[in-house]
Amino acid sequence: MSVQFAGTTALVTGASSGLGAEFARVLTARGADLVLVARRLERLEAMARELEARHGIMARVLGTDLGVPASWGQVRAFTDAEGVRVSTLVNNAGFGTYGVLAEADPARADEEVRLNVGALTALTRAYLPDLMSEGTGALVNVASTASFQPVPAMAVYGATKAYVRSFTAAVAWETRNTGLRVTALCPGATRTEFFDVVGSEHAKVGRYQSPEQVVRTAMRALDARHTPPVVVSGAANRVVAVLGRLAPARAGLPVTAALMGR
Ligand SMILES: NC(=O)c1ccc[n+]([C@@H]2O[C@H](COP(=O)([O-])OP(=O)(O)OC[C@H]3O[C@@H](n4cnc5c(N)ncnc54)[C@H](OP(=O)(O)O)[C@@H]3O)[C@@H](O)[C@H]2O)c1
Repeated sequence: MSVQFAGTTALVTGASSGLGAEFARVLTARGADLVLVARRLERLEAMARELEARHGIMARVLGTDLGVPASWGQVRAFTDAEGVRVSTLVNNAGFGTYGVLAEADPARADEEVRLNVGALTALTRAYLPDLMSEGTGALVNVASTASFQPVPAMAVYGATKAYVRSFTAAVAWETRNTGLRVTALCPGATRTEFFDVVGSEHAKVGRYQSPEQVVRTAMRALDARHTPPVVVSGAANRVVAVLGRLAPARAGLPVTAALMGR
């Protein structure tokens, strides 16, 4: 049965571009009110006004840096102060870095872990009791096909996404009798600002999907009778994911390294 988003509130992190912006559009088209979170407040405000005008919903915005742990409690404090009860959480904010670890900027690597793992974990924990008691919405944590095998030249990124996939699948099991739909969304290369931030096209493996295709996959998974704890977007990416999971590291590492230009 399709999830009923009308009249409920969805919180989307990283909503100022790419997949997060598409989640915001799709959820409002299905009647959800929104809380949009990212650093670029002007973008969020423009998007909120546009979606409110188009769909007659209510969109609140919070400009904050989720790479800073102090912001994690601020998000919950913001929704409490606004009297908002969150039924759907999309932990989408994230970024990747490219290059061998020994030459990586240590501060940037720390930030990558704090955002991709820390913020996602803290926000899931902060909202999970509400999501479970509402039992009508969804928890979507955005992982990646990079989660299925170690990724030389993106060691930190791949490991953060492996965490997201493992963590989310476990939470899906823990909450299986509550009505909450939980899935770890694993996109492959998607046409967003992601690769501008990474700063290298080597990070792109396979053909691009559009954000619309990826979010459609996620929504289909949520609307399914049994939401899968992990969903991979795109047939070719599903094959890569299976191979990545099955191949022993010794055999897989040289292949992945070559694909990553190393
Ligand atoms: N594109 C791909 O090929 C691909 C593939 C697999 C998985 N993913 C995952 O998909 C998710 C969305 O990425 P995308 O492809 O849509 O890339 P994107 O267009 O670069 O969007 C990333 C979003 O995260 C937000 N963000 C980044 N750092 C933040 C911070 N410190 N605090 C708060 N928000 C922050 C950005 O907003 P601000 O800059 O305004 O803060 C932006 O809204 C990420 O988790 C990424 O790892 C992407």
